[in-house]
Amino acid sequence: MPPEDHKAPAELPRPGHSRRDFLRGSSLAAAGAVMATSAETAMHEARADVSETDGVAIYSGTCPIELKVNGEAMSVTIEPRSTLLDTLRNRLGVTGPKRVCDRASCGACTVILDGDAVYSCTTLAISCADHEVRTLESFETDEGSVPHAFHQNDALMCGYCTPGFVTACQAWLEKNPGQEPTLDDIKQGLDGNICRCGTYIGVFQAALDAAKAMKKGGA
Ligand code: FES
Ligand code: FES
Repeated sequence: MPPEDHKAPAELPRPGHSRRDFLRGSSLAAAGAVMATSAETAMHEARADVSETDGVAIYSGTCPIELKVNGEAMSVTIEPRSTLLDTLRNRLGVTGPKRVCDRASCGACTVILDGDAVYSCTTLAISCADHEVRTLESFETDEGSVPHAFHQNDALMCGYCTPGFVTACQAWLEKNPGQEPTLDDIKQGLDGNICRCGTYIGVFQAALDAAKAMKKGGA
């Protein structure tokens, strides 16, 4: 497990709150309510079938949506309950984000949504219609890139967590351009991700190296 003092950067949905802080600081019901509000609007726009039982709106059937994934517009017809992770992996063939816990606790499914690192396993695909989704398939892999730094630092063992860490690291560096972060900054920035194999030393060093390379390259 990562050290206790890890905290993530601003990611969901309010600045200053990490993915983990967000879930820790609010009940899952409250988190669901936040998701439900934006998803409800999207469902209306996507024309999902809606019925009402005891005052509760029930969405069913399927609805067509447009997703922008790695710069490419993709049309897909999904059930309103489909998560972004399911939609990416099972419907669109974008398999970079991994399913491990499937409940917002490990970070293996991390994608970048409008610049923020989010757990795609607990994000409804329908709420992402017309938003920008990026996965590690779109990242540069040459020298100085985040994936290259992970490779150079041997920052993985089984590799299940690696796509999520690479994506969270990319998102953090893009949000903090031109900085040379401290180890604590990196620990905080990657707090939303867990490595069960304990490769944190390599992961943190990779993030530090990638930040240094990014600064040197003027990115
Ligand atoms: S699979 Fe989404 S957080 Fe673990
Ligand atoms: S390398 Fe195995 S979980 Fe991280």
